[in-house]
Amino acid sequence: MKRGIVSSSFACSLLLGARAQFPPKREGITVIQSKFHENVSISFKEPGICETTPGVKSYSGYVHLPPNLLEHEDQGYPINTFFWFFEARKDPANAPLAIWLNGGPGGSSMMGLLEENGPCFVGPDSNSTYLNPWSWNNEVNMLYIDQPVQTGFSYDVLTNVTIQLDESGESVVTPTEFTDGQIPTTNNTYRIGTLGSQNMSHTTNTTERAAHALWHFMQTWLFEFPHYKPSDDRISLWAESYGGQYGPAVFSFFQEQNERIANGSSEHSGARPLHLDTLGIVNGAIDWSILVESCFDFPYNNTYGLQLYNETFHASLVHNWTRPSGWRDRMAECTLALSQTPHGRAPNDTTAALCAAIEQDLETACFDTFPSETNRAPYDIAHPFHDPFPPPHLYGYLTQAPILAALGVPVNYTPTSLTVNDAFEQTFDPLRGGVLSALGALLDNSSVKLHLMYGDRDFMANWLGGERASLAIPWHRQQEFADTAGYAPLVVGGGSGGGGGRETEKGVTRQLGPGFSFTRVFQAGHEVPAYQPEAAYEVFRRAMGGLDVATGKVAFGERFRTEGPRDAWGWRNEVPEGVVEGRCYVLKPESCEEEVWRAVVDGTAVVRDWFVVGRGEGGGIGGDEL
Ligand SMILES: *[C@@H]1O[C@H](CO)[C@@H](O)[C@H](O)[C@H]1NC(C)=O
Ligand SMILES: *[C@@H]1O[C@H](CO)[C@@H](O)[C@H](O)[C@H]1NC(C)=O
Ligand SMILES: *[C@@H]1O[C@H](CO)[C@@H](O)[C@H](O)[C@H]1NC(C)=O
Ligand SMILES: *[C@@H]1O[C@H](CO)[C@@H](O)[C@H](O)[C@H]1NC(C)=O
Ligand SMILES: *[C@@H]1O[C@H](CO)[C@@H](O)[C@H](O)[C@H]1NC(C)=O
Ligand SMILES: *[C@@H]1O[C@H](CO)[C@@H](O)[C@H](O)[C@H]1NC(C)=O
Ligand SMILES: *[C@@H]1O[C@H](CO)[C@@H](O)[C@H](O)[C@H]1NC(C)=O
Ligand SMILES: *[C@@H]1O[C@H](CO)[C@@H](O)[C@H](O)[C@H]1NC(C)=O
Ligand SMILES: *[C@@H]1O[C@H](CO)[C@@H](O)[C@H](O)[C@H]1NC(C)=O
Ligand SMILES: *[C@@H]1O[C@H](CO)[C@@H](O)[C@H](O)[C@H]1NC(C)=O
Ligand SMILES: *[C@@H]1O[C@H](CO)[C@@H](O)[C@H](O)[C@H]1NC(C)=O
Ligand SMILES: *[C@@H]1O[C@H](CO)[C@@H](O)[C@H](O)[C@H]1NC(C)=O
Repeated sequence: MKRGIVSSSFACSLLLGARAQFPPKREGITVIQSKFHENVSISFKEPGICETTPGVKSYSGYVHLPPNLLEHEDQGYPINTFFWFFEARKDPANAPLAIWLNGGPGGSSMMGLLEENGPCFVGPDSNSTYLNPWSWNNEVNMLYIDQPVQTGFSYDVLTNVTIQLDESGESVVTPTEFTDGQIPTTNNTYRIGTLGSQNMSHTTNTTERAAHALWHFMQTWLFEFPHYKPSDDRISLWAESYGGQYGPAVFSFFQEQNERIANGSSEHSGARPLHLDTLGIVNGAIDWSILVESCFDFPYNNTYGLQLYNETFHASLVHNWTRPSGWRDRMAECTLALSQTPHGRAPNDTTAALCAAIEQDLETACFDTFPSETNRAPYDIAHPFHDPFPPPHLYGYLTQAPILAALGVPVNYTPTSLTVNDAFEQTFDPLRGGVLSALGALLDNSSVKLHLMYGDRDFMANWLGGERASLAIPWHRQQEFADTAGYAPLVVGGGSGGGGGRETEKGVTRQLGPGFSFTRVFQAGHEVPAYQPEAAYEVFRRAMGGLDVATGKVAFGERFRTEGPRDAWGWRNEVPEGVVEGRCYVLKPESCEEEVWRAVVDGTAVVRDWFVVGRGEGGGIGGDEL
C-alpha cells in the first residue's frame, strides 16, 4: 500500500498565504519518566478533539525509547512511538483493551481511526468532525498506534524536509535544512515540514523487530501510563492489511515473552506478562503464497460475476505460478534461503539477488497487472482506479496547525512512510513466511482467540486468500474446522446487536468454538469498517465478547460450530448500481485522473478544501468545472 505523503498546513494559497508549515510548538504536555528504564519516558496530553461524547476521555502522545534499548538488535536510533488512546464510551473502568494497527508497511493507524472504526470521522470540509455511532470504543478501550517508527506521527529524529507530491502517491521526501529567509514557497504539489529522518537504517525493518519494539512500548504504556488502570487486563489486537503479518508476529512475540517471564528466562527483570485475549485480522495479507495465488484467481472468478481477467490470461498466470521452476518454486527457494540467514543479519548477495528477482516478478504479475488490466481500484473491484472512497478528508484535517497542536505532535502528518516501506522491501519481510504456523501455535498453545474478517470487494488481500488461509492454519482442530463447521449468515440489526433497525444478512461466518472464525463481509472493500460500519462493528463486538459472531446471540463452549454449507460461493453479490464519480483530492494524488493532476501540477486547478473543483487562469476562481 503506497500512499501520498503530505505535510503542510495550508488549505488554499489564496486564503492563507504564507501560513506556517512546520508543526506548532508542543504545549501542555505531561512527561513521565519510566521507573524501570533509564531514558524511557511517556509524554502525552488530552487533545479534546474527535471524541466529543460528553465525559469520554482521550489521550495522545508518545512512548520514547532511547537508542539501543532493543536487545540483540542494531538499534542506533531513538524510537518515539505515537499513540492515541480512547476510553470506552461505556464503563471504561471495566472495559478490555484493543489495539488497532493499519498496514503498509508504513501505513498510519490514523486511517483506521478517522475513516474506519474510530470515534469520529472527518467531514468533507476536511476540518469538522462528526461522531461515529459504530466506533469500536463503544464498549472497548481503544489504543491506536503508529508503528513501525517513522510511520504516521512516529519519528526517530526530528528532521526538516521538502516533499514533492507525485501522481503515483509515492512522494519524494528530502531532508533539507532551512536557514532563515530560505524557506521555499509551497504549493499543492510541493510542501515543507518536519518528519522523521527518512533514514532507512532508522526503522525496525522486519515485522519481527517491529513486534519487539511494540513489546517495549506496551510494557511502558500498560504499566506506567497513568490514565490506563484496568480492572479488566485483557489485551486484544486488531490489525488490517499488512497487519496480517504484524498481528500474528506481535502476539507470538508477546506470548514468548510471557513464557519467558513464567519460566524465569526473561532478560527483563521488570517485565510483566500481558493477558493476550483476541487477535483480529481485517483483510490481512497472511501467507504470501496464498495471497499471490488468490490475486490471480480473484479477478478471474469472484462472487460479483466480474470476469476481469479472461480465461487465457488467468491460465497463463496460473501456469507461470505453478510450473516447475516457476514463480511459486522461486518464491519457496527465497523463503528457504531467508530462513537459513542468521537472525538479525542482512541476507547475503546470492539470497538478496534471488529474492529481489522473485519479489519484483510477483509485484508485477500481481499488483501491477491488476490496475493495468482492469482500470479498477485494487481495494474495491466495484470502483474505478482513481477511487474516491473512503473519502480522504483526514489527510487535510491532519495538516492543520490547531489539530497538530491539540495532539501535541512535533511532526507533520504522513499517511504512508515510503522509508519504512522500502526498508521492509529490502529485508523481503513478507517472503519470510511462517505466519500460518505462528497462528497455529497461538491457537494450540495459548488461550488467544483468532477472528478473521474480509470484505469481498477487495482485490489486494481478497477473501479467497483469507478463506484459504483460514483453512491452512496448522492446529489441532484444523480438519474439524474445515469438515464440520459451515457458513452461516452474519446477521446484524433487529436487536441482534448494538443497533436497532431491520435484521439483515451482511456476510457469512464459519466458526468453531469461541476461539476461531472466518467472516466474509458482503459489499465491503479493503477497509471493511468504512464500507460496512455496523457489520464490522458487530464482528468486533461479538468476537471480543465471546459471542457467536454470526448471530451475536449464543454464548457457547468449545463444541460450538456454525452450521451451513462448506462453500460460501452460494452467496452471490450484485455490483452496486450507479456510476462512481472520481474526485481529485490533492493530498491524495492517487484519487486524481491524469488530466486533473496535470492541472494541479501546472497550477491551473482550482482547489477548495483540498478538492479540485475547477480550472482557471493561474489558479483563479471561477474557471471551468473539471
Ligand atoms: C541515558 O542517557 C544518558 C545521556 O544520554 C546516557 O549517558 C546513559 O547511558 C543512558 N542510559 C541508558 C540505560 O541507556
Ligand atoms: C475549522 O474548525 C474549527 C473548529 O470547529 C473552526 O474554529 C474553524 O473556523 C474551522 N476552519 C475553517 C477554515 O472552516
Ligand atoms: C525546521 O526549520 C525551521 C525554520 O527554519 C526551524 O525553526 C526548526 O527548528 C527546524 N526544525 C528542525 C527539526 O530542524
Ligand atoms: C543513516 O543511519 C546510519 C546508521 O545510523 C548512518 O550511518 C548513516 O550515515 C545515516 N545516513 C544519513 C544519510 O544520514
Ligand atoms: C522458557 O520459555 C521460552 C519461550 O517459550 C523457551 O524458548 C525456553 O526454552 C524456556 N526455557 C526454559 C528454561 O524452560
Ligand atoms: C468459480 O469458483 C467457484 C467456486 O470454487 C466454482 O464453483 C466456479 O465453477 C468457478 N467459476 C469459474 C468460471 O471457474
Ligand atoms: C485475454 O486478455 C489478454 C490480456 O488482457 C489479451 O491480450 C487477450 O487478447 C485476451 N484474449 C481474449 C481471447 O480475449
Ligand atoms: C508467463 O510467462 C511467460 C514467459 O515468461 C510470459 O511471456 C507471459 O507473459 C507470462 N504470463 C503472464 C500472464 O504474465
Ligand atoms: C547465502 O546464504 C544462503 C542461505 O543462508 C546460503 O545457503 C548460501 O550458501 C550463502 N551463499 C554464500 C555465497 O555465502
Ligand atoms: C535491517 O536492520 C538491521 C538492524 O538495524 C540491520 O542490521 C540490517 O542490515 C537491516 N537489513 C537490511 C536488509 O537493510
Ligand atoms: C505449540 O504448538 C505447536 C503446534 O502448533 C507444537 O508443535 C508445539 O510443540 C507447541 N509448543 C508448546 C511449547 O507447547
Ligand atoms: C510548486 O513549487 C515547486 C517548488 O518551488 C515549483 O517547482 C513548482 O513549479 C510550483 N508549482 C506551481 C504550480 O507553482
